[in-house]
Amino acid sequence: MSDKKTFYITTPIYYPSDNLHIGHAYTTVAADTMTRYKKMRGFDTYFLTGSDEHGQKIQRRALAAGKSPQEFVDEIICNFKKLWQVLLIENDDFIRTTEDRHQKVAQELFQKIYDQGDIYKSQYEGWYCTSCETFFTEIQVGEEHVCPDCGKAVEKMKEESYFFKMSKYADRWLQFIDENPNFIRPESRRNEMINFVKQGLDDLCVSRTTFDWGIKVPFDEKHVIYVWFDALINYISALKGTGDGSLYDKFWPADVHLVGKDIIRFHTIIWPIMLMAAGIPLPKTVLGHGWVLMGDSKMSKSVGNVIDPLVLCDKYGPDAIRYFLMREMGYGLDCNYSEEALVLRINTDLANDYGNLLSRTTGMINKFQGGMVTPPGEATEFDQELIALAEETPKKFAQLMDNMEWANALAELWKLVNKANKYIDDAAPWALNKAGEKSKLSTVLYNMCEVVRMVTVMVSPVMPGLPQRVWQQLGIEEKPELYTWDSLSWGKFPSGGMIHRGDPLFPRIDFAATADTVPAEAVEKPAAQKETAEPVEPIGPECSMEDFQRLDLRVVKVLACEKVPKTDKLLKFTLQLGNEERTVLSGIAKYYQPEQLVGKNLVLIANLKPVVIRGIESKGMLLSACGKDRLQLVEVENMPSGVKVM
Ligand code: ME8
Ligand code: MG
Repeated sequence: MSDKKTFYITTPIYYPSDNLHIGHAYTTVAADTMTRYKKMRGFDTYFLTGSDEHGQKIQRRALAAGKSPQEFVDEIICNFKKLWQVLLIENDDFIRTTEDRHQKVAQELFQKIYDQGDIYKSQYEGWYCTSCETFFTEIQVGEEHVCPDCGKAVEKMKEESYFFKMSKYADRWLQFIDENPNFIRPESRRNEMINFVKQGLDDLCVSRTTFDWGIKVPFDEKHVIYVWFDALINYISALKGTGDGSLYDKFWPADVHLVGKDIIRFHTIIWPIMLMAAGIPLPKTVLGHGWVLMGDSKMSKSVGNVIDPLVLCDKYGPDAIRYFLMREMGYGLDCNYSEEALVLRINTDLANDYGNLLSRTTGMINKFQGGMVTPPGEATEFDQELIALAEETPKKFAQLMDNMEWANALAELWKLVNKANKYIDDAAPWALNKAGEKSKLSTVLYNMCEVVRMVTVMVSPVMPGLPQRVWQQLGIEEKPELYTWDSLSWGKFPSGGMIHRGDPLFPRIDFAATADTVPAEAVEKPAAQKETAEPVEPIGPECSMEDFQRLDLRVVKVLACEKVPKTDKLLKFTLQLGNEERTVLSGIAKYYQPEQLVGKNLVLIANLKPVVIRGIESKGMLLSACGKDRLQLVEVENMPSGVKVM
């Protein structure tokens, strides 16, 4: 066994109910960056990600898509894996909660907590948000009966359930948090959680009986384990359930669970209490990061404002996307996504600052020294200033990286990049060349190479695709000893070698010229079209109030929408109507992109006689305003599904 220090980091396991967007990509890129950094610092690392495949939401989505839950998730998981590859993610394992290795460990843990008396059978009566897979109390859902987290309508639940005695552990939890100030980060989230627990903890409902897409309770097959209880166990099952289980001895407890702020309660209250009950050591840190926002709201499929990371990677390259995410999201804060902000980052930090530094370096070495890096002369006070900053930067950078303050770490590193650019301006190698100051010129050009090398080593965990191209241009592609953390002391760059000037690493992007290829979902809605008069159709014959009242009009929420294959007109909607889900077809494909409509509240004639079109039963009709060559669905803001329209 090696005596290296270990580092085990996890991302949440993602729901395969939809494809992933750039908000999800943040967590995985951050975990990958951290892993690569720790590896470079000599740690034996383990990086786990995966997918959370059980629960009512998945079962319903599968049903709506006409697939078995397993088929449904299998397809989406392929996309997850492809995305991680494209984003240069090097995870050590990918755990799926539908795998045997996970189910076995989850059942064992459930059994263990039951055997010692912390799980008991009772009856659950309360509210449930299927979208968040979360139970809520009457007070939490308010009079409107909407989810306090996502705002969707919650469902009333009444069923026999097993409960986990969380309440029993509140004091132990508070004591643990007190003794482990770094367990919940950042501080603001820690305080939030402490306040929450101080108000007392309810026991948690941990099994369901009204659907079956889950892991069976080992001693009562009528029940499936509550999806969150099941999911959290992945962090352990991936280690325990793999090979001979020695991974568990080596890597547990985890060093970091990296999660978004929306799921911090599950990770810092429920999960540690499950572990306490089972007598398992607790992870060292749970870091709750902010959200990638679009405008004012969280980027999310249900809001319908998602950006596909594959499209962005294709357009800008994975390194630039990774850099943007890591640089833009401050520690514990949210960040705003817009393609303009992304392009701005690329143009300033990557093209102007970093890319230019390399390009000026190789350009001048070619021009003034025939492509050869010559030994530096004696450093003057002016050179010493740059050298001192270059020697200090790795320490500051490391401190911030260790603290997982990635944006600050990059900002610190860029001080060196900017200093180097200023150094060139002040040193004016072109003037030194003209004046025949060969030794001074050598010093300046050598120092430029050395700064580029050191910056590239430090930034490599963030942009892993970059270094190879830089090493090649600098002519050190066969010297891996110059890429290590230990090589980050001044003066390691070899002299006497030849550089190979290449294409710019990050060509400047003309945003205006590329904006037309921005993914449709990302484009802001155009300003309202100017009203043009259309001939008004004559008003129809009179009808009585009773006639009208025979129509039952309801608010419905669009859960999913897709084109019906082999037709150009038909969209297939999966609609939520109170507790019911129904399928409705509508011939409006010409006017809308299906993904635009997800999350919208529309009006449905709910009691129209069902019809079967192309083998699909359509129950009802969506109201829309139909102009000559235009059409708009009638939308209702801020009303939960199921409400009557009259
Ligand atoms: O919550 N910005 O899965 P999930 C930043 N299956 N992070 C975001 C984001 C955004 N716009 N949108 C989502 C689940 N995320 C559970 C986890 S773990 C035992 C089970 C983050 O697919 C979100 O905060 O809904 C969460 O950390 C992760 O993506 C997975 O979200
Ligand atoms: Mg979510």
